[in-house]
Amino acid sequence: MPDYGDVLEKWHKSGIPRSELTQFMRRSDAKGILQTLSFLAVLGGLGYLAFRTIGTWWAIPAFFAYGTVYCFLNHVMHETHHRTPFKSVWINEAVHWISGFAHGAEPIFDRWGHTQHHTFTYIIGKDPEVVTPRPANIPRILGQFFGIGIIKPLPIIRHALGIIDGYTRELVPESDWKKMIWSSRFWLLGYALIVASCFYFNTVLPLVYTLFARFYGAFIPTLLNDTQHIGLAQDVYDHRLCTRDVYLNPVISFIYWNMQYHIEHHMFPGVPFHALKKLHSRIKDQLPPAYGNVWAVYKEMIPTLLKQQKDPDYFVTPKLPEPAPVSLTSRVDAADGRARKEFTERDDEGNLLTWVTVCPSDGLKAPDVVSFLHKEKYYAVYRLPDGLYATSGKCTHAGAILAKGIVIGGEIECPAHQGRFDIRSGISTRSPACDRLELYRVKEEAGEILLAIPGQPLSHLRL
Ligand code: FES
Repeated sequence: MPDYGDVLEKWHKSGIPRSELTQFMRRSDAKGILQTLSFLAVLGGLGYLAFRTIGTWWAIPAFFAYGTVYCFLNHVMHETHHRTPFKSVWINEAVHWISGFAHGAEPIFDRWGHTQHHTFTYIIGKDPEVVTPRPANIPRILGQFFGIGIIKPLPIIRHALGIIDGYTRELVPESDWKKMIWSSRFWLLGYALIVASCFYFNTVLPLVYTLFARFYGAFIPTLLNDTQHIGLAQDVYDHRLCTRDVYLNPVISFIYWNMQYHIEHHMFPGVPFHALKKLHSRIKDQLPPAYGNVWAVYKEMIPTLLKQQKDPDYFVTPKLPEPAPVSLTSRVDAADGRARKEFTERDDEGNLLTWVTVCPSDGLKAPDVVSFLHKEKYYAVYRLPDGLYATSGKCTHAGAILAKGIVIGGEIECPAHQGRFDIRSGISTRSPACDRLELYRVKEEAGEILLAIPGQPLSHLRL
């Protein structure tokens, strides 16, 4: 994977102190489990009601309601793509695989595509999740309201046959190919079993309750999904210009997993669904005004799409608050003006080390991380309960600055796509990060944290 660090840094970030942002990024099994079980209870309840109405006209609204909620399994899979709804990794992955299967998507391939969507949101030619570039393909948009074009079986079939085309090669690292191929095979087997059960039990209900629901229930989920980006700017590195926030009632917010706060989700993808509303309240003065409801979006979007048929360069430009505040999540540390200590010494093996000051000891509390820029190379210095550690400072997946992420246990979670690394060994513990980080020596002396690195001069950046 190329180093997209420059791209990731280009995206505008609203100003919020790191200490607050890390609080928003905290994960909770309790909140994730409560949301998932409530969602499944609603789905199961509607499924039961629909079953009881079979043979009556009530079956039409009942199955519409069931299919609608079923299609929001897409959002369960989406949240678990990001690995944010649960604190426990295994719960996240179990929910990810189950919801992915139900949704009709193979989760490994889909997750890599979504990773790319977050790196290149609505950058045309790079973002694989653009619904339709300008001028909008209106039949395509309308088709999605009936589930057409949402399920994409061809990549699953290709991967199950072991065919890795150029697009997949670009998206998915080779280390995941084998897993993806086998996952695709199991997926096809699972869908074949659903079809077989229809023949075995002589009823179409297994399909009606699963894959067919992706079509007859697609209308409302598509209505909401299309509010996220359509009609706004393309090829801009500011989520406030290519993404929308919409206010929704609590019931819809619940089944939509709070994705109406879509600008916040794109700006800070490490923030779980349950914290998005609070994050919105915290930074809304730095965002364009949220639309009051779904109709307010469509009142603007429909004329925009029609106008684009004649003028493909036309798009809606949201009103940005001004002046845009400086991002506090990447500010230069206020103490940066002070004198830096720098000296060389030989270690026990006779290697010459250059020690440089990173920050005062009390500038890094456990568990946290600070970024350090030296000769255009980023380092990350961590304090864990058992001591100090240092690694290279950019994620090995796509080059995000790791110190903008969060320390969880003994791991650093990347802010861009939530890959993780073990801080003590540098080994990547979770995709999309694959390669390990470099390790460096770090020590504390006379109230300062010092890092052993080659070269000078140095500059100092507190994230
Ligand atoms: S840049 Fe993608 S996981 Fe870090």
